[in-house]
Amino acid sequence: MNEQQEMNAIQEIRSKVDIVDIVGEYVPLTQKGKNFFGVCPFHDDTNPSMSVSREKQIYRCFSCGASGNVFQFVQDYEHISFKEALRMLADKAGVELKGFSHTKSHSEQDKYYGIYEIAQKYYQNNLQTNYGKKAKEYLAGRKIDDEMIKTFGIGLSLDTTNDLIQLLTKKGYDLNTLNQIGLASYDKDLYNSRIMFPLQDLSGRIVGFSGRRYDGIKENKYVNTKGTPIFQKGNTLYHYFDARESVRKKKSVIVMEGFMAAIRSITIGIDNVVSLMGTAMTKEQAELIKRLSDHVILCFDGDEAGRKATLTNGEELEKMGCEVRVVELSEDLDPDDYILKYGKEEFTRLVKNAVFFSDYKIKSLKRGINLNSDEEIAHYINSVIVETSKINDEIRRELILKTLAKEFDIGYNTLEKRLLVLLEKEKSSPPLETSIPNEKKTIKSNKYTLATLSLLYYMLTNQTARQLFEAGEIFFLTEKQRFLASEIIYYNKIYGTIQIADFYTYLQDKPELLEILKQVLTMDLSDEVEDNVILDYVKVMRENSVNQERKRLQKMMRETFDPLEQAKIAEKIRKLKMGS
Ligand code: CTP
Ligand code: MN
Repeated sequence: MNEQQEMNAIQEIRSKVDIVDIVGEYVPLTQKGKNFFGVCPFHDDTNPSMSVSREKQIYRCFSCGASGNVFQFVQDYEHISFKEALRMLADKAGVELKGFSHTKSHSEQDKYYGIYEIAQKYYQNNLQTNYGKKAKEYLAGRKIDDEMIKTFGIGLSLDTTNDLIQLLTKKGYDLNTLNQIGLASYDKDLYNSRIMFPLQDLSGRIVGFSGRRYDGIKENKYVNTKGTPIFQKGNTLYHYFDARESVRKKKSVIVMEGFMAAIRSITIGIDNVVSLMGTAMTKEQAELIKRLSDHVILCFDGDEAGRKATLTNGEELEKMGCEVRVVELSEDLDPDDYILKYGKEEFTRLVKNAVFFSDYKIKSLKRGINLNSDEEIAHYINSVIVETSKINDEIRRELILKTLAKEFDIGYNTLEKRLLVLLEKEKSSPPLETSIPNEKKTIKSNKYTLATLSLLYYMLTNQTARQLFEAGEIFFLTEKQRFLASEIIYYNKIYGTIQIADFYTYLQDKPELLEILKQVLTMDLSDEVEDNVILDYVKVMRENSVNQERKRLQKMMRETFDPLEQAKIAEKIRKLKMGS
Protein backbone atom coordinates (compact mmCIF):
# COMPACT_ATOMS: atom_id res chain seq x y z
CA MET A 1 0.00 0.00 0.00
CA ASN A 2 1.28 3.47 -0.76
CA GLU A 3 0.77 6.41 1.53
CA GLN A 4 -2.36 7.60 -0.22
CA GLN A 5 -3.98 4.16 -0.05
CA GLU A 6 -3.11 3.93 3.63
CA MET A 7 -4.66 7.32 4.28
CA ASN A 8 -7.81 6.14 2.52
CA ALA A 9 -7.91 2.96 4.59
CA ILE A 10 -7.51 4.95 7.80
CA GLN A 11 -10.36 7.22 6.69
CA GLU A 12 -12.48 4.19 5.97
CA ILE A 13 -11.95 2.88 9.50
CA ARG A 14 -12.66 6.30 10.95
CA SER A 15 -15.86 6.64 8.99
CA LYS A 16 -17.09 3.17 9.96
CA VAL A 17 -17.03 3.87 13.68
CA ASP A 18 -19.04 6.62 15.31
CA ILE A 19 -17.10 8.69 17.81
CA VAL A 20 -20.24 9.03 19.95
CA ASP A 21 -20.44 5.23 20.34
CA ILE A 22 -16.73 4.82 21.03
CA VAL A 23 -16.42 7.65 23.57
CA GLY A 24 -19.71 6.44 25.05
CA GLU A 25 -18.06 3.11 25.87
CA TYR A 26 -15.66 4.92 28.19
CA VAL A 27 -17.64 7.91 29.43
CA PRO A 28 -21.42 8.18 29.96
CA LEU A 29 -22.77 10.76 27.49
CA THR A 30 -25.99 12.74 27.43
CA GLN A 31 -27.35 14.43 24.36
CA LYS A 32 -28.09 18.14 24.44
CA GLY A 33 -29.09 19.60 21.12
CA LYS A 34 -26.79 18.38 18.38
CA ASN A 35 -23.93 17.44 20.70
CA PHE A 36 -23.27 14.88 23.41
CA PHE A 37 -21.78 15.80 26.77
CA GLY A 38 -19.82 13.92 29.40
CA VAL A 39 -17.20 14.27 32.13
CA CYS A 40 -13.78 14.72 30.51
CA PRO A 41 -11.45 11.82 31.41
CA PHE A 42 -8.33 13.86 30.70
CA HIS A 43 -8.46 16.20 33.66
CA ASP A 44 -9.80 16.17 37.18
CA ASP A 45 -13.45 17.12 36.95
CA THR A 46 -17.00 16.21 37.86
CA ASN A 47 -18.77 18.56 35.45
CA PRO A 48 -19.66 17.50 31.92
CA SER A 49 -17.20 19.79 30.19
CA MET A 50 -16.47 17.53 27.24
CA SER A 51 -18.61 17.64 24.16
CA VAL A 52 -18.68 15.10 21.36
CA SER A 53 -19.97 16.01 17.95
CA ARG A 54 -21.53 13.29 15.82
CA GLU A 55 -21.58 15.58 12.83
CA LYS A 56 -17.89 16.56 13.00
CA GLN A 57 -16.72 13.30 14.61
CA ILE A 58 -14.54 15.13 17.10
CA TYR A 59 -14.55 15.69 20.85
CA ARG A 60 -13.37 18.71 22.78
CA CYS A 61 -13.12 19.70 26.40
CA PHE A 62 -13.88 23.31 27.22
CA SER A 63 -12.09 23.07 30.50
CA CYS A 64 -8.70 21.47 29.76
CA GLY A 65 -8.47 21.97 26.03
CA ALA A 66 -8.22 18.28 25.11
CA SER A 67 -9.59 17.65 21.64
CA GLY A 68 -9.30 15.35 18.67
CA ASN A 69 -10.85 12.59 16.63
CA VAL A 70 -11.75 9.06 17.61
CA PHE A 71 -8.16 7.76 17.24
CA GLN A 72 -6.83 10.47 19.52
CA PHE A 73 -9.45 9.72 22.16
CA VAL A 74 -8.68 6.00 22.24
CA GLN A 75 -4.93 6.70 22.17
CA ASP A 76 -5.10 9.08 25.13
CA TYR A 77 -7.59 7.07 27.12
CA GLU A 78 -5.88 3.72 26.66
CA HIS A 79 -2.37 5.17 26.69
CA ILE A 80 -1.55 3.41 23.45
CA SER A 81 0.10 4.48 20.20
CA PHE A 82 -1.70 5.59 17.06
CA LYS A 83 -0.91 2.22 15.50
CA GLU A 84 -2.50 0.36 18.38
CA ALA A 85 -5.57 2.60 18.40
CA LEU A 86 -5.89 2.05 14.68
CA ARG A 87 -5.77 -1.71 15.18
CA MET A 88 -8.38 -1.60 17.95
CA LEU A 89 -10.79 0.49 15.93
CA ALA A 90 -10.19 -1.52 12.76
CA ASP A 91 -11.35 -4.59 14.70
CA LYS A 92 -14.48 -2.74 15.77
CA ALA A 93 -15.10 -1.50 12.24
CA GLY A 94 -14.50 -4.96 10.80
CA VAL A 95 -11.80 -3.65 8.48
CA GLU A 96 -8.76 -5.79 7.79
CA LEU A 97 -5.39 -4.11 8.13
CA LYS A 98 -3.40 -6.40 5.83
CA GLY A 99 -0.60 -4.91 3.77
CA PHE A 100 -0.38 -1.86 5.98
CA SER A 101 3.01 -0.43 6.76
CA HIS A 102 1.41 1.08 9.85
CA THR A 103 0.62 -2.41 11.12
CA LYS A 104 2.43 -5.35 9.57
CA SER A 105 0.68 -8.61 8.87
CA HIS A 106 0.03 -10.28 12.18
CA SER A 107 -0.50 -13.91 11.36
CA GLU A 108 3.16 -14.81 12.03
CA GLN A 109 3.22 -12.81 15.24
CA ASP A 110 -0.10 -14.26 16.39
CA LYS A 111 1.58 -17.63 16.17
CA TYR A 112 4.34 -16.44 18.53
CA TYR A 113 1.83 -15.13 21.05
CA GLY A 114 0.10 -18.51 20.92
CA ILE A 115 3.37 -20.29 21.69
CA TYR A 116 4.03 -18.04 24.66
CA GLU A 117 0.54 -18.74 26.00
CA ILE A 118 1.27 -22.45 25.93
CA ALA A 119 4.73 -22.05 27.47
CA GLN A 120 3.40 -19.90 30.29
CA LYS A 121 0.65 -22.41 31.16
CA TYR A 122 3.18 -25.20 31.07
CA TYR A 123 5.60 -23.40 33.40
CA GLN A 124 2.84 -22.37 35.75
CA ASN A 125 1.57 -25.90 35.98
CA ASN A 126 5.04 -27.25 36.84
CA LEU A 127 5.03 -25.20 39.99
CA GLN A 128 1.97 -27.05 41.29
CA THR A 129 3.47 -30.53 40.71
CA ASN A 130 5.84 -32.52 42.87
CA TYR A 131 8.77 -31.09 40.92
CA GLY A 132 7.78 -27.67 42.13
CA LYS A 133 8.19 -28.30 45.86
CA LYS A 134 11.57 -26.64 46.32
CA ALA A 135 10.63 -23.69 44.16
CA LYS A 136 7.41 -23.21 46.13
CA GLU A 137 9.42 -23.25 49.36
CA TYR A 138 11.75 -20.66 47.92
CA LEU A 139 8.81 -18.46 46.93
CA ALA A 140 7.18 -18.87 50.31
CA GLY A 141 10.45 -17.85 51.93
CA ARG A 142 10.26 -14.68 49.86
CA LYS A 143 6.67 -14.10 50.94
CA ILE A 144 5.18 -14.90 47.56
CA ASP A 145 1.95 -16.79 48.17
CA ASP A 146 -0.33 -18.76 45.88
CA GLU A 147 -2.49 -15.80 45.06
CA MET A 148 0.51 -13.81 43.90
CA ILE A 149 1.72 -16.77 41.88
CA LYS A 150 -1.62 -16.75 40.12
CA THR A 151 -1.88 -13.00 39.67
CA PHE A 152 1.57 -12.64 38.16
CA GLY A 153 1.53 -15.94 36.28
CA ILE A 154 4.67 -17.17 37.97
CA GLY A 155 5.91 -20.60 36.89
CA LEU A 156 8.84 -22.99 36.91
CA SER A 157 11.14 -24.46 34.28
CA LEU A 158 12.28 -27.97 35.14
CA ASP A 159 15.77 -29.44 35.28
CA THR A 160 14.95 -31.79 32.41
CA THR A 161 16.48 -30.44 29.24
CA ASN A 162 13.76 -30.40 26.62
CA ASP A 163 10.27 -30.94 28.02
CA LEU A 164 8.89 -27.66 26.72
CA ILE A 165 10.45 -28.17 23.28
CA GLN A 166 8.90 -31.61 23.04
CA LEU A 167 5.50 -30.29 24.02
CA LEU A 168 5.67 -27.52 21.46
CA THR A 169 7.09 -29.53 18.57
CA LYS A 170 4.38 -32.13 19.16
CA LYS A 171 1.90 -29.33 18.64
CA GLY A 172 3.50 -28.66 15.29
CA TYR A 173 5.80 -25.70 16.01
CA ASP A 174 9.22 -26.00 14.45
CA LEU A 175 12.52 -25.76 16.32
CA ASN A 176 13.63 -22.84 14.22
CA THR A 177 10.74 -20.72 15.41
CA LEU A 178 11.29 -21.73 19.03
CA ASN A 179 14.93 -20.66 18.74
CA GLN A 180 13.96 -17.43 17.06
CA ILE A 181 11.52 -16.39 19.77
CA GLY A 182 13.83 -17.25 22.63
CA LEU A 183 12.42 -20.43 24.12
CA ALA A 184 14.97 -22.91 22.78
CA SER A 185 18.70 -23.11 22.37
CA TYR A 186 19.28 -25.46 19.44
CA ASP A 187 17.27 -28.55 20.37
CA LYS A 188 17.18 -27.86 24.12
CA ASP A 189 14.94 -25.78 26.36
CA LEU A 190 16.55 -22.42 26.98
CA TYR A 191 15.37 -22.25 30.57
CA ASN A 192 16.24 -24.89 33.15
CA SER A 193 15.46 -24.89 36.85
CA ARG A 194 14.36 -21.31 37.05
CA ILE A 195 11.38 -19.55 38.49
CA MET A 196 9.65 -18.07 35.48
CA PHE A 197 8.17 -14.57 35.49
CA PRO A 198 6.16 -13.83 32.34
CA LEU A 199 6.77 -10.49 30.63
CA GLN A 200 3.99 -8.75 28.74
CA ASP A 201 4.03 -6.31 25.84
CA LEU A 202 2.19 -2.99 25.76
CA SER A 203 -1.07 -4.75 24.95
CA GLY A 204 -0.79 -7.25 27.77
CA ARG A 205 0.27 -10.26 25.69
CA ILE A 206 2.97 -12.55 27.05
CA VAL A 207 6.04 -12.09 24.88
CA GLY A 208 8.94 -13.19 27.08
CA PHE A 209 10.17 -14.49 30.41
CA SER A 210 12.60 -13.58 33.09
CA GLY A 211 13.85 -16.73 34.79
CA ARG A 212 15.33 -16.52 38.29
CA ARG A 213 17.64 -19.04 39.92
CA TYR A 214 16.45 -20.33 43.25
CA ASP A 215 19.45 -22.46 44.20
CA GLY A 216 21.09 -19.61 46.11
CA ILE A 217 23.84 -19.04 43.53
CA LYS A 218 24.16 -15.38 42.65
CA GLU A 219 25.75 -15.78 39.23
CA ASN A 220 23.36 -15.27 36.32
CA LYS A 221 20.59 -14.52 38.77
CA TYR A 222 18.15 -13.68 36.01
CA VAL A 223 18.01 -14.83 32.41
CA ASN A 224 15.73 -12.71 30.23
CA THR A 225 14.31 -13.39 26.81
CA LYS A 226 16.68 -11.99 24.22
CA GLY A 227 15.54 -9.57 21.53
CA THR A 228 12.95 -11.30 19.33
CA PRO A 229 10.42 -10.15 16.72
CA ILE A 230 7.90 -9.59 19.52
CA PHE A 231 10.07 -8.59 22.48
CA GLN A 232 12.67 -5.88 23.03
CA LYS A 233 13.58 -5.26 26.65
CA GLY A 234 14.26 -1.58 25.95
CA ASN A 235 10.76 -1.03 24.54
CA THR A 236 9.00 -2.68 27.43
CA LEU A 237 8.05 -1.82 30.98
CA TYR A 238 7.02 -4.51 33.42
CA HIS A 239 3.31 -4.14 34.35
CA TYR A 240 2.72 -1.36 31.77
CA PHE A 241 -0.57 -2.70 30.46
CA ASP A 242 -2.09 -3.45 33.85
CA ALA A 243 -0.92 -0.20 35.42
CA ARG A 244 -2.86 2.09 33.08
CA GLU A 245 -6.16 2.20 34.94
CA SER A 246 -4.55 2.78 38.30
CA VAL A 247 -2.20 5.43 36.90
CA ARG A 248 -5.22 7.25 35.58
CA LYS A 249 -6.95 7.14 38.96
CA LYS A 250 -3.92 8.04 41.03
CA LYS A 251 -2.65 10.57 38.49
CA SER A 252 0.97 9.49 38.77
CA VAL A 253 3.19 6.61 37.80
CA ILE A 254 5.79 5.04 40.07
CA VAL A 255 8.90 3.70 38.35
CA MET A 256 11.03 0.97 39.95
CA GLU A 257 14.12 -0.98 38.91
CA GLY A 258 13.08 -4.57 39.35
CA PHE A 259 9.89 -6.49 38.73
CA MET A 260 10.10 -8.15 42.17
CA ALA A 261 9.80 -4.67 43.62
CA ALA A 262 6.84 -3.93 41.37
CA ILE A 263 5.15 -7.22 42.33
CA ARG A 264 5.53 -6.46 46.03
CA SER A 265 4.24 -2.93 45.66
CA ILE A 266 1.23 -4.02 43.59
CA THR A 267 0.40 -6.67 46.18
CA ILE A 268 0.10 -4.09 48.95
CA GLY A 269 -2.18 -1.97 46.77
CA ILE A 270 0.26 0.54 45.33
CA ASP A 271 -0.38 -0.59 41.79
CA ASN A 272 0.28 2.50 39.65
CA VAL A 273 3.75 1.10 39.20
CA VAL A 274 5.95 -0.10 36.34
CA SER A 275 9.50 -1.39 36.37
CA LEU A 276 12.46 -1.01 34.05
CA MET A 277 14.14 -4.39 34.66
CA GLY A 278 17.45 -2.83 35.61
CA THR A 279 18.61 0.74 36.28
CA ALA A 280 19.08 1.80 32.64
CA MET A 281 16.17 3.61 31.02
CA THR A 282 16.01 3.83 27.24
CA LYS A 283 14.50 6.76 25.34
CA GLU A 284 11.58 4.50 24.37
CA GLN A 285 10.94 3.56 27.99
CA ALA A 286 11.04 7.21 29.00
CA GLU A 287 8.43 7.95 26.34
CA LEU A 288 6.24 5.10 27.56
CA ILE A 289 6.44 6.43 31.11
CA LYS A 290 5.44 9.87 29.93
CA ARG A 291 2.64 8.39 27.88
CA LEU A 292 1.24 6.91 31.10
CA SER A 293 1.51 10.12 33.10
CA ASP A 294 3.65 13.22 33.27
CA HIS A 295 3.68 12.95 37.05
CA VAL A 296 6.46 10.48 37.67
CA ILE A 297 7.67 9.10 41.01
CA LEU A 298 11.06 7.38 40.89
CA CYS A 299 11.49 4.67 43.51
CA PHE A 300 14.77 2.91 42.80
CA ASP A 301 16.85 0.76 45.13
CA GLY A 302 18.46 2.51 48.08
CA ASP A 303 22.01 1.63 47.00
CA GLU A 304 24.59 3.63 45.09
CA ALA A 305 23.44 2.28 41.70
CA GLY A 306 19.86 3.22 42.52
CA ARG A 307 20.86 6.75 43.50
CA LYS A 308 22.85 7.21 40.31
CA ALA A 309 19.96 5.92 38.21
CA THR A 310 17.57 8.28 40.00
CA LEU A 311 19.72 11.25 39.03
CA THR A 312 20.21 10.33 35.36
CA ASN A 313 16.70 9.08 34.72
CA GLY A 314 15.08 11.93 36.65
CA GLU A 315 17.06 14.42 34.59
CA GLU A 316 15.94 12.78 31.35
CA LEU A 317 12.27 12.64 32.34
CA GLU A 318 12.31 16.25 33.47
CA LYS A 319 13.81 17.29 30.16
CA MET A 320 10.89 15.61 28.46
CA GLY A 321 8.47 17.73 30.46
CA CYS A 322 7.57 15.37 33.30
CA GLU A 323 7.19 16.52 36.88
CA VAL A 324 9.50 14.16 38.74
CA ARG A 325 9.46 13.18 42.39
CA VAL A 326 11.64 10.75 44.28
CA VAL A 327 11.20 8.16 47.00
CA GLU A 328 14.47 7.47 48.74
CA LEU A 329 14.89 4.17 50.54
CA SER A 330 17.24 3.75 53.47
CA GLU A 331 19.84 1.06 54.22
CA ASP A 332 20.43 0.13 50.57
CA LEU A 333 17.05 -1.60 50.53
CA ASP A 334 14.99 -2.19 47.41
CA PRO A 335 11.21 -1.58 47.57
CA ASP A 336 10.55 -5.30 48.03
CA ASP A 337 12.90 -5.61 51.03
CA TYR A 338 11.73 -2.29 52.39
CA ILE A 339 8.06 -3.23 52.38
CA LEU A 340 8.82 -6.61 53.94
CA LYS A 341 10.91 -5.00 56.65
CA TYR A 342 8.89 -1.87 57.48
CA GLY A 343 5.42 -2.72 56.24
CA LYS A 344 2.76 -1.34 53.98
CA GLU A 345 1.92 1.80 55.97
CA GLU A 346 5.47 3.02 56.17
CA PHE A 347 6.06 2.51 52.45
CA THR A 348 2.78 4.17 51.55
CA ARG A 349 3.80 7.14 53.67
CA LEU A 350 7.12 7.38 51.81
CA VAL A 351 5.39 7.39 48.44
CA LYS A 352 2.93 10.01 49.58
CA ASN A 353 5.79 12.20 50.77
CA ALA A 354 7.96 11.76 47.68
CA VAL A 355 10.24 14.79 47.39
CA PHE A 356 10.70 17.05 44.38
CA PHE A 357 13.46 15.89 42.08
CA SER A 358 15.19 19.26 42.46
CA ASP A 359 15.31 18.86 46.24
CA TYR A 360 16.66 15.36 45.83
CA LYS A 361 19.35 16.62 43.48
CA ILE A 362 20.37 19.36 45.89
CA LYS A 363 20.56 16.86 48.70
CA SER A 364 22.71 14.53 46.67
CA LEU A 365 25.09 17.35 45.73
CA LYS A 366 25.93 17.62 49.38
CA ARG A 367 26.76 13.98 49.80
CA GLY A 368 30.49 13.53 50.16
CA ILE A 369 31.63 17.15 50.24
CA ASN A 370 34.37 17.98 52.69
CA LEU A 371 32.92 20.49 55.14
CA ASN A 372 36.41 21.66 56.12
CA SER A 373 37.22 22.84 52.62
CA ASP A 374 35.99 26.34 51.76
CA GLU A 375 36.54 25.55 48.14
CA GLU A 376 34.28 22.52 48.20
CA ILE A 377 31.64 24.39 50.15
CA ALA A 378 31.70 27.29 47.69
CA HIS A 379 31.41 24.86 44.81
CA TYR A 380 28.49 23.15 46.51
CA ILE A 381 26.69 26.43 47.18
CA ASN A 382 27.13 27.47 43.57
CA SER A 383 25.73 24.21 42.26
CA VAL A 384 22.74 24.51 44.58
CA ILE A 385 22.01 27.98 43.25
CA VAL A 386 22.24 26.69 39.68
CA GLU A 387 19.71 23.96 40.49
CA THR A 388 17.52 26.45 42.33
CA SER A 389 17.42 28.72 39.28
CA LYS A 390 15.74 25.93 37.33
CA ILE A 391 12.83 25.74 39.80
CA ASN A 392 9.73 27.49 38.60
CA ASP A 393 8.39 28.40 42.01
CA GLU A 394 9.42 31.55 43.81
CA ILE A 395 8.49 30.33 47.27
CA ARG A 396 10.48 27.13 46.96
CA ARG A 397 13.45 29.08 45.62
CA GLU A 398 13.37 31.38 48.60
CA LEU A 399 13.08 28.49 51.04
CA ILE A 400 16.11 26.77 49.57
CA LEU A 401 18.24 29.91 49.71
CA LYS A 402 17.16 30.61 53.28
CA THR A 403 18.18 27.15 54.41
CA LEU A 404 21.45 27.49 52.58
CA ALA A 405 22.17 30.92 54.11
CA LYS A 406 21.48 29.63 57.59
CA GLU A 407 23.43 26.45 57.16
CA PHE A 408 26.65 28.08 56.02
CA ASP A 409 26.14 31.43 57.70
CA ILE A 410 26.16 33.42 54.49
CA GLY A 411 24.11 36.56 53.79
CA TYR A 412 20.81 35.75 52.11
CA ASN A 413 21.32 38.72 49.79
CA THR A 414 24.62 37.36 48.52
CA LEU A 415 22.91 34.15 47.50
CA GLU A 416 19.91 35.91 46.04
CA LYS A 417 22.09 38.19 43.93
CA ARG A 418 23.75 35.20 42.33
CA LEU A 419 20.39 33.55 41.75
CA LEU A 420 18.98 36.65 40.06
CA VAL A 421 21.89 36.75 37.63
CA LEU A 422 21.15 33.15 36.62
CA LEU A 423 17.42 33.77 36.35
CA GLU A 424 18.07 36.75 34.09
CA LYS A 425 20.25 34.58 31.86
CA GLU A 426 17.56 31.91 31.57
CA LYS A 427 14.97 34.46 30.63
CA SER A 428 17.02 35.67 27.69
CA SER A 429 17.72 32.20 26.37
CA PRO A 430 14.81 30.73 24.41
CA PRO A 431 12.58 28.45 26.48
CA LEU A 432 12.68 24.72 25.85
CA GLU A 433 9.75 23.52 23.80
CA THR A 434 8.28 21.04 26.18
CA SER A 435 4.71 20.02 25.77
CA ILE A 436 2.42 21.43 28.38
CA PRO A 437 0.35 18.95 30.36
CA ASN A 438 -3.33 19.25 29.54
CA GLU A 439 -4.39 20.68 32.86
CA LYS A 440 -2.20 23.69 32.48
CA LYS A 441 -3.24 24.54 28.96
CA THR A 442 -5.09 27.80 28.98
CA ILE A 443 -6.77 29.08 25.91
CA LYS A 444 -5.63 32.61 25.28
CA SER A 445 -8.45 34.94 24.56
CA ASN A 446 -6.95 38.13 23.23
CA LYS A 447 -8.51 39.30 20.02
CA TYR A 448 -5.61 38.37 17.73
CA THR A 449 -5.53 34.83 19.01
CA LEU A 450 -9.27 34.66 18.59
CA ALA A 451 -8.99 35.95 15.02
CA THR A 452 -6.16 33.57 14.19
CA LEU A 453 -7.90 30.48 15.53
CA SER A 454 -11.24 31.47 14.00
CA LEU A 455 -9.75 32.03 10.57
CA LEU A 456 -7.97 28.71 10.67
CA TYR A 457 -11.25 27.09 11.64
CA TYR A 458 -13.13 28.80 8.81
CA MET A 459 -10.42 27.74 6.39
CA LEU A 460 -11.44 24.18 7.27
CA THR A 461 -15.13 24.76 6.68
CA ASN A 462 -15.45 27.67 4.31
CA GLN A 463 -14.37 28.28 0.73
CA THR A 464 -14.22 32.08 1.11
CA ALA A 465 -11.71 31.84 3.93
CA ARG A 466 -9.51 29.55 1.85
CA GLN A 467 -9.69 31.87 -1.13
CA LEU A 468 -8.71 34.85 1.01
CA PHE A 469 -5.65 32.97 2.27
CA GLU A 470 -4.63 31.92 -1.23
CA ALA A 471 -5.00 35.51 -2.39
CA GLY A 472 -2.52 36.54 0.29
CA GLU A 473 -5.09 38.49 2.29
CA ILE A 474 -4.66 36.70 5.62
CA PHE A 475 -1.56 37.59 7.64
CA PHE A 476 -0.81 34.76 10.04
CA LEU A 477 1.82 35.75 12.51
CA THR A 478 3.85 32.60 12.96
CA GLU A 479 5.41 30.23 10.50
CA LYS A 480 3.57 27.28 12.02
CA GLN A 481 0.19 28.95 11.53
CA ARG A 482 1.10 29.62 7.89
CA PHE A 483 2.18 25.99 7.47
CA LEU A 484 -1.08 24.77 8.91
CA ALA A 485 -3.01 27.07 6.57
CA SER A 486 -1.05 25.73 3.58
CA GLU A 487 -1.72 22.16 4.66
CA ILE A 488 -5.45 22.93 4.75
CA ILE A 489 -5.29 24.26 1.19
CA TYR A 490 -3.28 21.27 0.02
CA TYR A 491 -5.58 18.76 1.72
CA ASN A 492 -8.63 20.36 0.20
CA LYS A 493 -7.05 20.17 -3.27
CA ILE A 494 -6.34 16.45 -2.92
CA TYR A 495 -9.61 15.35 -1.35
CA GLY A 496 -11.88 18.04 -2.73
CA THR A 497 -13.44 18.39 0.72
CA ILE A 498 -12.36 18.59 4.33
CA GLN A 499 -13.70 16.23 6.95
CA ILE A 500 -12.08 17.67 10.09
CA ALA A 501 -11.72 14.31 11.83
CA ASP A 502 -9.71 12.97 8.87
CA PHE A 503 -7.62 16.08 8.46
CA TYR A 504 -6.70 15.52 12.09
CA THR A 505 -5.21 12.11 11.26
CA TYR A 506 -3.48 13.60 8.24
CA LEU A 507 -1.52 15.84 10.65
CA GLN A 508 -0.52 12.89 12.85
CA ASP A 509 3.13 13.10 11.77
CA LYS A 510 3.31 16.87 12.24
CA PRO A 511 2.79 17.30 15.99
CA GLU A 512 3.59 21.01 15.98
CA LEU A 513 0.75 21.66 13.52
CA LEU A 514 -1.56 19.24 15.30
CA GLU A 515 -1.01 21.27 18.46
CA ILE A 516 -2.44 24.36 16.74
CA LEU A 517 -5.31 22.39 15.22
CA LYS A 518 -6.25 21.19 18.71
CA GLN A 519 -6.51 24.78 19.86
CA VAL A 520 -8.61 25.60 16.82
CA LEU A 521 -10.96 22.73 17.62
CA THR A 522 -11.62 23.82 21.20
CA MET A 523 -13.25 26.96 19.82
CA ASP A 524 -16.96 26.42 19.62
CA LEU A 525 -17.69 27.97 16.24
CA SER A 526 -20.62 27.37 14.01
CA ASP A 527 -19.86 26.21 10.49
CA GLU A 528 -22.27 28.59 8.88
CA VAL A 529 -20.63 31.95 8.83
CA GLU A 530 -21.30 35.19 7.00
CA ASP A 531 -18.50 36.40 4.77
CA ASN A 532 -18.35 39.72 6.62
CA VAL A 533 -17.52 37.94 9.88
CA ILE A 534 -14.54 36.40 8.11
CA LEU A 535 -13.58 39.77 6.63
CA ASP A 536 -13.70 41.36 10.09
CA TYR A 537 -11.23 38.80 11.37
CA VAL A 538 -9.02 39.39 8.33
CA LYS A 539 -9.00 43.08 9.24
CA VAL A 540 -7.97 42.32 12.80
CA MET A 541 -5.11 40.20 11.51
CA ARG A 542 -3.91 42.92 9.17
CA GLU A 543 -4.00 45.42 12.04
CA ASN A 544 -2.00 42.99 14.10
CA SER A 545 0.63 42.51 11.44
CA VAL A 546 0.93 46.29 11.00
CA ASN A 547 1.42 46.66 14.75
CA GLN A 548 4.14 44.05 14.73
CA GLU A 549 5.90 45.77 11.85
CA ARG A 550 5.69 49.11 13.64
CA LYS A 551 7.18 47.60 16.77
CA ARG A 552 9.97 46.12 14.72
CA LEU A 553 10.74 49.47 13.11
CA GLN A 554 10.64 51.30 16.43
CA LYS A 555 13.12 48.85 17.84
CA MET A 556 15.40 49.42 14.87
CA MET A 557 15.08 53.13 15.44
CA ARG A 558 16.22 52.78 19.04
CA GLU A 559 19.17 50.67 18.05
CA THR A 560 20.64 52.85 15.33
CA PHE A 561 22.64 56.04 15.83
CA ASP A 562 22.83 57.04 12.19
CA PRO A 563 20.53 60.09 11.73
CA LEU A 564 19.97 59.32 8.06
CA GLU A 565 18.89 55.78 8.89
CA GLN A 566 16.63 57.13 11.62
CA ALA A 567 14.91 59.45 9.22
CA LYS A 568 14.29 56.61 6.77
CA ILE A 569 12.74 54.48 9.49
CA ALA A 570 10.61 57.35 10.73
CA GLU A 571 9.25 57.78 7.24
CA LYS A 572 8.36 54.09 7.05
CA ILE A 573 6.57 54.28 10.39
CA ARG A 574 4.59 57.30 9.25
CA LYS A 575 3.52 55.48 6.10
CA LEU A 576 2.47 52.47 8.14
CA LYS A 577 0.33 54.65 10.40
CA MET A 578 -1.37 56.19 7.40
CA GLY A 579 -2.30 52.72 6.32
CA SER A 580 -0.50 52.52 3.00
N1 CTP B 1 18.27 -7.97 36.23
C1 CTP B 1 18.60 -8.79 35.16
N2 CTP B 1 19.69 -9.61 35.24
C2 CTP B 1 20.44 -9.67 36.38
C3 CTP B 1 20.12 -8.84 37.45
C4 CTP B 1 19.02 -8.02 37.34
O1 CTP B 1 17.92 -8.77 34.16
N3 CTP B 1 21.46 -10.50 36.43
C5 CTP B 1 17.10 -7.10 36.10
C6 CTP B 1 15.85 -7.83 36.51
O2 CTP B 1 14.80 -7.49 35.63
C7 CTP B 1 15.56 -7.32 37.89
C8 CTP B 1 16.16 -5.92 37.87
O3 CTP B 1 17.22 -5.99 36.95
O4 CTP B 1 14.17 -7.28 38.14
C9 CTP B 1 16.65 -5.44 39.20
O5 CTP B 1 17.73 -6.23 39.63
P1 CTP B 1 17.99 -6.58 41.15
O6 CTP B 1 17.75 -5.38 41.99
O7 CTP B 1 19.31 -7.27 41.26
O8 CTP B 1 16.90 -7.70 41.39
P2 CTP B 1 15.76 -7.78 42.47
O9 CTP B 1 14.54 -7.20 41.91
O10 CTP B 1 16.19 -7.32 43.78
O11 CTP B 1 15.55 -9.37 42.48
P3 CTP B 1 15.77 -10.35 43.68
O12 CTP B 1 15.08 -9.71 44.82
O13 CTP B 1 15.13 -11.60 43.20
O14 CTP B 1 17.24 -10.51 43.87
MN1 MN C 1 15.42 -7.79 45.76
